[in-house]
Amino acid sequence: MLNAAILGLGWWGRTIVTTMQTSDALRVVAGIDPAPHAALACAELGIRHLPDFASALADPSIDTIILCTPHTQHAAQIQLAAASGKHVFCEKPLCLNLADAQASVAACNAHGVMLGVGHERRFEPAIADLRAIIAEGGLGTLLQMEANFSQDKFLSLPRDNWRLNPVEAPAGPMTATGIHLLDLAVSFLGNADRALVHVAQLGSDLTNGDTLAAMIRFKSGANALLTAILATPFDGRLAFYGSQGWAEIRDKTHPEAPEGWTMTIVERGKDRVVRDYPPTSSVRANLESFASQALGRGTYLMPQDQMLANIAALEAVFKSAASGEIVQVAAT
Ligand SMILES: NC(=O)c1ccc[n+]([C@@H]2O[C@H](COP(=O)([O-])OP(=O)(O)OC[C@H]3O[C@@H](n4cnc5c(N)ncnc54)[C@H](O)[C@@H]3O)[C@@H](O)[C@H]2O)c1
Repeated sequence: MLNAAILGLGWWGRTIVTTMQTSDALRVVAGIDPAPHAALACAELGIRHLPDFASALADPSIDTIILCTPHTQHAAQIQLAAASGKHVFCEKPLCLNLADAQASVAACNAHGVMLGVGHERRFEPAIADLRAIIAEGGLGTLLQMEANFSQDKFLSLPRDNWRLNPVEAPAGPMTATGIHLLDLAVSFLGNADRALVHVAQLGSDLTNGDTLAAMIRFKSGANALLTAILATPFDGRLAFYGSQGWAEIRDKTHPEAPEGWTMTIVERGKDRVVRDYPPTSSVRANLESFASQALGRGTYLMPQDQMLANIAALEAVFKSAASGEIVQVAAT
């Protein structure tokens, strides 16, 4: 069992604490947040309140740090935790640029600690099933991915909230939801080659942009067409088209409170198959897989080369959104 301290007790930090309350693999035992609500939040969640990050790093009963903090803080916090010999689970995006991601991965490796990232969509059962179908050649050669991850939760945030700030969240919806799709694209299609991205403010007063369309070309030649919108109700949809067939997954709800998924599979010459998947917590599955490898009992489903490939592509997305130009993805 890993004992974790969580840095950041906002929306997602609290979601993780409650999600892990009955886990035998990882339990959040302490919380840190400079906000005035922190002590009360810890009391409500049944965890210890620590005054600052240094207290958690110095506490030998804590072996893992979970980061649910604003994005610009992730790199420094990962490296501090690693230097203190703590495993680190960092919420997405791992970092906002490739150099920071490389330094963070290197710090974890140098100190022999495990690094995990909050890309729970990899752990959804429909995605796992799709991965097996593709690995068995069911769709043939992968030609194209098309995916959308939209939600309107940010419409209720105060307009000075960090998640609406272009420094913390470049390219509008990209760091909120688009990054999950990019992670899945990298996990299925490999390293990205170039990106062309358009972000606009079309349906809200979110001046950082509410509508994103990204076309990513991969080194394999396949395309990913990724879209993310912050001004429309929740939608989650992902399809892969291949030379022998296609498959589409539709999410019934946001991963915060999963209600299940539906996958449609069409293989050439066969009847259309529709599979329904009951709800399960992919957030918990991700943290438990991370804990298993940290405890020497399994292999985490997110290799470090894919963590870096995702952030290299993310950096190209930011640059293309800002310039309107096609941007080459840096080699990792
Ligand atoms: N995996 C997912 O599906 C998912 C969903 C939502 C958010 N997230 C990620 O979780 C992270 C947090 O997002 P959120 O929506 O919870 O934001 P939030 O604003 O609700 O919470 C962030 C909290 O961090 C605290 N904080 C800021 N600086 C801190 C520091 N130095 N030390 C300790 N606490 C600090 C703030 O006071 C705030 O309470 C982000 O990386 C975000 O992208 C992931």
